[in-house]
Amino acid sequence: MSTKIAGKVVVITGASSGLGEATARLLSAQGASLALGARRVDRLKSLADELNKSGGKALTVATDVTNSDQVKQLVDAAVQKFGRIDVIINNAGLMPQSPLERLKIDDWDRMIDVNIKGVLYGIAAALPYMKQQKAGHIICVSSIAGHKVRPGGVVYSATKHAVRVISEGLRQEVKP
Ligand SMILES: NC(=O)c1ccc[n+]([C@@H]2O[C@H](COP(=O)([O-])OP(=O)(O)OC[C@H]3O[C@@H](n4cnc5c(N)ncnc54)[C@H](OP(=O)(O)O)[C@@H]3O)[C@@H](O)[C@H]2O)c1
Repeated sequence: MSTKIAGKVVVITGASSGLGEATARLLSAQGASLALGARRVDRLKSLADELNKSGGKALTVATDVTNSDQVKQLVDAAVQKFGRIDVIINNAGLMPQSPLERLKIDDWDRMIDVNIKGVLYGIAAALPYMKQQKAGHIICVSSIAGHKVRPGGVVYSATKHAVRVISEGLRQEVKP
């Protein structure tokens, strides 16, 4: 069965570990060209080296998704190197847990900045190219926490609800 992945240009945020890294390996094995972003450049580079040695095409850009310019640089690098962008996977995210009454305001800020603003910056960077191409997929990683809320995970859950709402709103707005 064809996966139709071969030759596609895919940008992945948070590609230095976890789901992002695993997705990069899977898509590279299926023939996608990849632009990999995250803050830990050493991990990104060793992943890209490994993929390129196995016949893949991967570039890396140091990317903090809380910085819209850096997210734009990641997407621009993909277009410059590979000629287009077919998919962006807004995957970077974090989930520190604590009850609200512990007032971990720094954690709340980081989750809002990375999980919500990072996704919006990914959309801002990719959408103009995709509109020009009249094609593209924007994939935003939410969570079961984007559907349910549990004690200790309230702010994380709020950010993942936001990711789901942003994705659905984007779908409604750009579908035509
Ligand atoms: N694991 C789960 O069970 C689960 C379940 C549902 C949803 N999710 C979601 O899946 C996504 C990936 O989670 P994971 O479990 O794979 O986590 P992970 O292993 O901790 O990886 C998180 C990735 O996000 C990156 N990241 C964090 N802050 C960043 C920032 N400011 N700028 C750029 N990249 C940043 C990290 O890279 P650097 O530190 O190098 O920047 C890392 O590559 C998240 O959105 C998470 O909410 C995970």
